[in-house]
Amino acid sequence: MFESLGKEFDGRPVMALAPMQDVTDLAFMRVMSAYGGGPDYFITEYFRVHRDSSPEKKILRSITGNETGKPVFAQMIGVDIGSLVRTAKFLLDYEIAGMDINLGCPSPTVCRKDAGGGLLRNLSHVDKILGVLREVCSARGKEFTVKTRIGYEDAGEFEAILDVFAKHEIDALAIHGRTVRDKYQTPVRDEYVKMAVERMACPVIANGNVVNVATGRAYHEKTGAAGLMIGRGAIRSPWIFEQLRQSYAGDEVMVPTRRDLRGYVQMLFDELAKEWAVYHEQNYVNKMKKYMIYIAQGIDAEFEQRIRRVRTEAEFFGVCDAFMDSDALLADLPPERSKLFCGFSDLLD
Ligand SMILES: Cc1cc2nc3c(=O)[nH]c(=O)nc-3n(C[C@H](O)[C@H](O)[C@H](O)COP(=O)(O)O)c2cc1C
Repeated sequence: MFESLGKEFDGRPVMALAPMQDVTDLAFMRVMSAYGGGPDYFITEYFRVHRDSSPEKKILRSITGNETGKPVFAQMIGVDIGSLVRTAKFLLDYEIAGMDINLGCPSPTVCRKDAGGGLLRNLSHVDKILGVLREVCSARGKEFTVKTRIGYEDAGEFEAILDVFAKHEIDALAIHGRTVRDKYQTPVRDEYVKMAVERMACPVIANGNVVNVATGRAYHEKTGAAGLMIGRGAIRSPWIFEQLRQSYAGDEVMVPTRRDLRGYVQMLFDELAKEWAVYHEQNYVNKMKKYMIYIAQGIDAEFEQRIRRVRTEAEFFGVCDAFMDSDALLADLPPERSKLFCGFSDLLD
């Protein structure tokens, strides 16, 4: 996958959909790829790995059912080396491009177990994990990638972290430019992503706060990263990958309307229905509301409040129709002070 960088992607950054628990499942991947091809590759939500774990069937489905034509990497979160190796060997039997290890999750439950972002406090253990996983993936001819933050407490830790990464021939390094302590509430530190680009032999993928073409291009230009990984910005706007492609190709960038957004919401619902064999109205509506938290940003404060209160499918689509039956263009950016999209305009400075 990463060998074709620069050739296949016509000089533009490669684009990934950021893995997101309870969001980036098979249905969501299908929806993303329906919009101008979507991202160039996917990463599964993380498989929780511990002594008694077995890979979650629901997440496996995003590998076995992947018909997007785009490669998918299987992400693991865990600390126990034996269990990580066992799980990687199991997953490598499936149609995946490679394995990815999560060194960034800030959830207190995960970090307490020294997994995810918590692992950044124990670099000698990270060293061991990367060593064995590299070997396991190479033995199967598969790629091995890392997704990290820039430190646990402080970005000053990042140089030492990079020293450990540089010891292993990882195929790509995705960097969410915040520390674990920062969670999601700060601007991203593009200077640290740039540092990684300069020091690492592998492609670096810049992640965090890409919400439109301008923020994506700015992050890319400031860091020289080989790729962009986009999460919440893609939930809000599945057009973002196509828009970036158009922008880098020098073509006119399409601008979606509210009616296009209504189509997107419908597609999310329909793809969900294909995956969830049993119709349970409450579950469907609750799942849709998870997406709507992001989609509602920049639409209308009243829309956000009303969608939060809906209980039935009919109410849900009724509120959507009330606000989306219009050719008005969608706002390019979410509100700057929103809790969900925080500090993105710093990328534009
Ligand atoms: C709801 C949610 C779930 C997430 N789940 C994962 C995950 O399973 N694995 C992972 O590496 N990162 C996970 N992340 C972090 C994202 O992959 C990404 O690093 C972060 O959202 C910053 O990128 P963005 O600003 O483009 O969203 C999650 C983020 C969100 C908002």
